[in-house]
Amino acid sequence: MSDLALPFESRYVPRKRLHDLYRRSIESPEGFWSEQARQLDWFKAWDKVLEWEPPFARWFAGGELNAAHICVDRHVKTWRRSKVAIYWEGEPGDVRVMSYSTLYGEVNRFAAMLKKLGVGKGDRVALYLPMVPELPVFMLACARIGAIHTVVFSGFSVQALADRINNVKAKMLITADGGFRRGKVLPLKATVDEALDQCPSIEHVVVVKRADIPVSMDAPRDVWLHEQLEAEMTFVPPEPVESNHPLYILFTSGTTGKPKGIVHSTGGYMVYNYCTYKWVFDIREESVYWCTADVGWVTGHSSIVYGPLAHGAAIVMYEGAPDYPSIDRWWHIIDRYGVSIFYTSPTAIRMFMGHGEKWPEKHDLSSLELLGSVGEPINPEAWLWFYKHIGQERCPIVDTWWQTETGGMMISPAPGIECVPLKPGSATLPLPGIEADVVDEAGNPAPPETRGHLVIRRPWPGMLLGIYGDPERYRSAYWSRFPGMFYTGDYAVKDREGYFWILGRADEVLKIAGHRIGTAELEDAAVSHPDITEAAVVSKADPVKGESIVLFVRLTEGANPSPELKKSLVDHMRRVIGPIATPEEVYFTAKLPKTRSGKIMRRVLKAVAENTPIGDLSTLEDEAAVEEVVKILQELRQAQAGAV
Ligand code: WTA
Repeated sequence: MSDLALPFESRYVPRKRLHDLYRRSIESPEGFWSEQARQLDWFKAWDKVLEWEPPFARWFAGGELNAAHICVDRHVKTWRRSKVAIYWEGEPGDVRVMSYSTLYGEVNRFAAMLKKLGVGKGDRVALYLPMVPELPVFMLACARIGAIHTVVFSGFSVQALADRINNVKAKMLITADGGFRRGKVLPLKATVDEALDQCPSIEHVVVVKRADIPVSMDAPRDVWLHEQLEAEMTFVPPEPVESNHPLYILFTSGTTGKPKGIVHSTGGYMVYNYCTYKWVFDIREESVYWCTADVGWVTGHSSIVYGPLAHGAAIVMYEGAPDYPSIDRWWHIIDRYGVSIFYTSPTAIRMFMGHGEKWPEKHDLSSLELLGSVGEPINPEAWLWFYKHIGQERCPIVDTWWQTETGGMMISPAPGIECVPLKPGSATLPLPGIEADVVDEAGNPAPPETRGHLVIRRPWPGMLLGIYGDPERYRSAYWSRFPGMFYTGDYAVKDREGYFWILGRADEVLKIAGHRIGTAELEDAAVSHPDITEAAVVSKADPVKGESIVLFVRLTEGANPSPELKKSLVDHMRRVIGPIATPEEVYFTAKLPKTRSGKIMRRVLKAVAENTPIGDLSTLEDEAAVEEVVKILQELRQAQAGAV
């Protein structure tokens, strides 16, 4: 755990400030958060800062605001009306630049169209779009009228899309004919057509023309966006919503097969993101902020749309693949738009590292001031490469730990308020208001340098309101493992200086190239193949993606292992979930190792996948018959050696 004290003090205020701020946030949370909340525009002040009926928190109860008003309307009343809000670049090289006043006009036009097609406050609207400017515009248009958006990552496929639409009973789906990815067109509308056979709640499908490919339009349900928008902008007043009116629902993976619809509030979420983007990124109206995540993940919601736009910054949005047409596409974009804050994933950094520094060296990266990393643990080697070759030893790196559930960044350096010495690989310290800790299996504080579970000991404004339609699952998933504490599902270590080192997931959730997916979802997809009766997924360490998927399957009677069957299974999983579900390795097995109660013993499978010793088998005795497990293990190793 190396210590790298970096010389960033000069630009920022002295260290004491975070300590003061942090102490105040913990000692007097209500005073602290109401002071923060007053920085946003409210139509009506809140009656109570926090109503806490564990485990349900309602922040700024009784207050009224509108997220689109905060992200757009507020700016058009100032000089920012004529400054850039969005620099967008399509993969083929087309560019669109939107000022705040253009964005304001578009959000109003889109909101008018949503209303015309029957969408109102509280209705759920699903967005299944590539990374085009219409995506943030639609999110803001929904927020403007009080409709709740649920963005489905466009890399998800038929079943994943249908499940998400059905879970929230979305009234409208917004999609595109297709999107560009690595020079090819992804036919999104065709996926939608297949999914919608199962989605009776959808009344209209609005289609954005992006790729200009032929699509089938099922009138009157399906309409083209450009045919529905009025040419003239009509002002649609932003709907004042109560602070705890849901702004959005975003699905994420947990330990069971069905993804969870995480519900975020409007007031708490906006206040928390407004603060954390200032503290962590020191974001200002003159910043050019580029987060490379897809809007389909929480990082994109907070870091492309609601955080930076609330501050009146310019965002950069890029549609396509990082290595298209060549591996320096991103460095070209930083150079072209003068990006000052660059936020990306460890997987991307490791990929670029593999291609060498000659690619970033071709471009002028001197506009960069601050770098960020998110989504998975960053190894010190990648951290240092990022620091040296992208930040050119000038820019601090903020390694930000957070989750879909937390709504915003939780543990991170905060150069906007103070500079702590950075340690490559550590997310450093909790942000103001966040009481994070590491506890042992019994919920007692773990000693320094000892691995334990990362927990949060009190509510914070960005915290999820719950799981859509399932308060019991919310309670059991997050608040029952350690009573009175929010369970994150991550392992962590605190060092002697109180720095947090996040070690990855403790539960059955994988992070494949930073994308979150549950083993149970993958297993459900595998067993929906007609030749598979049973499946088990574990992950294997991957030098670039962090983790990759290893799948063990038992075949139905009469089915035989073959390369064709393997291919058909992989194709099937990609079609059901999407390309992120692609297994790296597939093993056919006659039996899976199980405990006496029938639970699959993942540690045995993991030992096979990673080719490591199984360890002390006697510890398995309570769980299963040792000889049986040894036999299965041998068979699996043989299957691996002569893998089909
Ligand atoms: C992991 C992404 C280490 C962690 C914002 C968490 C991280 C999960 C970091 C949430 C980080 C996120 N260092 N691990 N800086 N940031 N993670 O919901 O395992 O897609 O629980 O949200 O990503 O993933 P999610």
